[in-house]
Amino acid sequence: MTERKRGLHSAPLERGYRNGVTTEATRRVLLIGAGGHARVCLEALLDDPSNDVVGAVSRDGLAANGLGIEVLGRDVDALDIAQRQRLTTFCVAIGNNIIRQRFGKMLTERGHVVTSAISRFAMLSRSCSLADGVQILPGAVVNAATTIGDGVIVNTNASVDHDCSVGAYVHIAPGVAIGGDVTIGAGALIGIGSRILPGLTIGAGTIVGGGAVVVDDVPAGATVVGVPARAIRREESEA
Ligand SMILES: CC(C)(COP(=O)(O)OP(=O)(O)OC[C@H]1O[C@@H](n2cnc3c(N)ncnc32)[C@H](O)[C@@H]1OP(=O)(O)O)[C@@H](O)C(=O)NCCC(=O)NCCS
Repeated sequence: MTERKRGLHSAPLERGYRNGVTTEATRRVLLIGAGGHARVCLEALLDDPSNDVVGAVSRDGLAANGLGIEVLGRDVDALDIAQRQRLTTFCVAIGNNIIRQRFGKMLTERGHVVTSAISRFAMLSRSCSLADGVQILPGAVVNAATTIGDGVIVNTNASVDHDCSVGAYVHIAPGVAIGGDVTIGAGALIGIGSRILPGLTIGAGTIVGGGAVVVDDVPAGATVVGVPARAIRREESEA
């Protein structure tokens, strides 16, 4: 018996078509976001044959080159566009934690499904637990008894080892390594290629700079950089 909860399977299913082939079950998905991260999420969504990604919306109504699906309008109009297309399922393919959370909460408060994008090249322990709307991308590892909260991104080649707890809307950037028994508070950004030693607690809203090695607990809201990681002061921003 697996304890894993896969948001992918929480949406209502319909019979339908994908790439001209009749599918047993089709989940019609609107992608929110049309940049590079959205492209990666789209490929992960299409790894699940029951997903039919109908189109995307973006901040300016435009797509990054080569997105491969139609951009149907602006993200502020996502609900109207979804209603016209008879969609109730969304993937919030936005790397920025604050904006991803804003869309995720708005959609779930209105009763919509925020679906997960899980690459077929991700490695998930049978005892890990995934909440809804997570993005687990190629080469990512989520190891035994680790809990991943709503809307979390475990990006390319990042690993989260055993018994970790990752709060909602955290972004674990490409190439990060997180040791066992680590707790990460909601909304933290764990920057590209950083390392977090086992057993530490990283507070909510923390930013760990790219390449940092975190050797001590980090208080909520701090930004730490370097080896070993030390706090720096910086301007507040959404980026
Ligand atoms: C930590 C970070 C958020 C700081 O951004 P910022 O507030 O714009 O900071 P600045 O670029 O103004 O740098 C402030 C100081 O910290 C240093 N610094 C910034 N990032 C650093 C890092 N990752 N490692 C070491 N030092 C760093 C700068 O050299 C600068 O030092 P100085 O004051 O002596 O000149 C950013 O550099 C970073 O690492 N972001 C991670 C991005 C990421 O991984 N995103 C996910 C992509 S998928």
